[in-house]
Amino acid sequence: MKSGSAARGFFGSQLGVVLASAGSAVGLGNIWRFPTEVGKGGGAAFILIYFGFILLFSMPIMISEFVIGRSARSNAIGAFQKLAPGKPWVAAGIMGVLAGFHVLSYYSVVAGWTLYYTVQSAIGQLGGQSSTDFAAVFNAFVSHPWQPVVYLALFLLLTHFVVSRGIERGIERYSKLMMPLLFMIIVLLVCFSLMMPGAADGIRFLLKPDLNEVTPDVILGAMGQAFFSLSVGIGCLVTYASYFSNETRLVGSAMSVCAIDTLVAVLSGFIIFPTVFSVGISPDAGPGLVFITLPNVFALSFSEMPVAGYIFSLLFYVLLLLAALTSSISMHEICTAFISEHFNKGRRTAAAIVTIICLMLGCFCSLSFGPWKDVTILGRGFFDLFDYTVTKFLMPLGGLLITLFVGWWLDRELVERQLTNDGSISIRAMKPLLFLIRWVAPVGILLIFLNELFPLFMKS
Ligand code: PHE
Repeated sequence: MKSGSAARGFFGSQLGVVLASAGSAVGLGNIWRFPTEVGKGGGAAFILIYFGFILLFSMPIMISEFVIGRSARSNAIGAFQKLAPGKPWVAAGIMGVLAGFHVLSYYSVVAGWTLYYTVQSAIGQLGGQSSTDFAAVFNAFVSHPWQPVVYLALFLLLTHFVVSRGIERGIERYSKLMMPLLFMIIVLLVCFSLMMPGAADGIRFLLKPDLNEVTPDVILGAMGQAFFSLSVGIGCLVTYASYFSNETRLVGSAMSVCAIDTLVAVLSGFIIFPTVFSVGISPDAGPGLVFITLPNVFALSFSEMPVAGYIFSLLFYVLLLLAALTSSISMHEICTAFISEHFNKGRRTAAAIVTIICLMLGCFCSLSFGPWKDVTILGRGFFDLFDYTVTKFLMPLGGLLITLFVGWWLDRELVERQLTNDGSISIRAMKPLLFLIRWVAPVGILLIFLNELFPLFMKS
């Protein structure tokens, strides 16, 4: 029998494991946040630094989360309670579940915008139209008192639908369906975008590092992005790994997920920058890049070819939507698994509780772009506050605790047995891997914290 315990559910295949975990990793973080950060961080130099952090921090944390999840076979909080009963390590799990609720709430707001833009492009409002003021369109939509809330609710319902169907019939099945579709759309869009006149400038921006652009902020941005993009530090992958079978190769799977996520991020760069440069728009447009700049690009470059513009813009927003959905289900699952196991509720009830809580929190975040613009806590609106707390605090702190837990507290033999599937496979790089988990990742993360905390303290 598969050892994922039938009652808890399990992933039915190695492909399912990799596609579901890669689905969690590949998301708005790759297609929306990565190009934005690359644009602000000066292109290729940022990308090089980002690669370094993936290798040195995110991959060791991901492998540590897999070890915790599969050895405990429990939700993010239950796992720490099982492996370290009565010890304060459970704080890492509690932070993870809290972060899960917060990240899903604000992520769904942006995903809701994506859903709106998908509908708009489907009805022909985006591609091939000329000279609309897209910034005004975007601002009017996000600050509308109820429209974005409706789209937020619709997106959360989609997420709810997949999660409430369970691991194999819900998460695994839909990941297997959506991820290949997502790759196909990406490849199509890259081809489209590379054929645009003037695309070469965009390619140069992505490939030629200019080290003068590297500032401490760029380095911090790259670190945050490496955490967010690989979904590490908040027990998401602890939860997924609790459904892995005993045959799942933890190190191999983590390497595949990191490779897929990085590839998708870079390919998204290849979709966006050649397009942006080809119409001469500045690449550092910030978060509006995919909702303001790109519609502009679609309009300018396809005004002569409305059909091509229609297809390009529709495919792009469908891609963004699929990517958002495969990630949001993993955030939802952190919370659903916890509520279902801790309070002994059925999956459907647990999922409904999570959806309702996130809908309420999500409304706060959505309204912070409109009617509640002036409501701030610590100088930030709800959306910003949630994003800041999750990416700048909960994720790095969670990552730090997780690597310390696996590197220093868990029994070394247990860790090695997990990594080698009870000695049935050999891991050639075991020593360097353990060194990354014990030293490099925790020390590195501590450095981020020092950098984050000081400016914060100076502000207050
Ligand atoms: N990795 C996802 C993305 O790139 C975001 C995410 C964060 C998913 C945390 C799950 C947990 O969009």
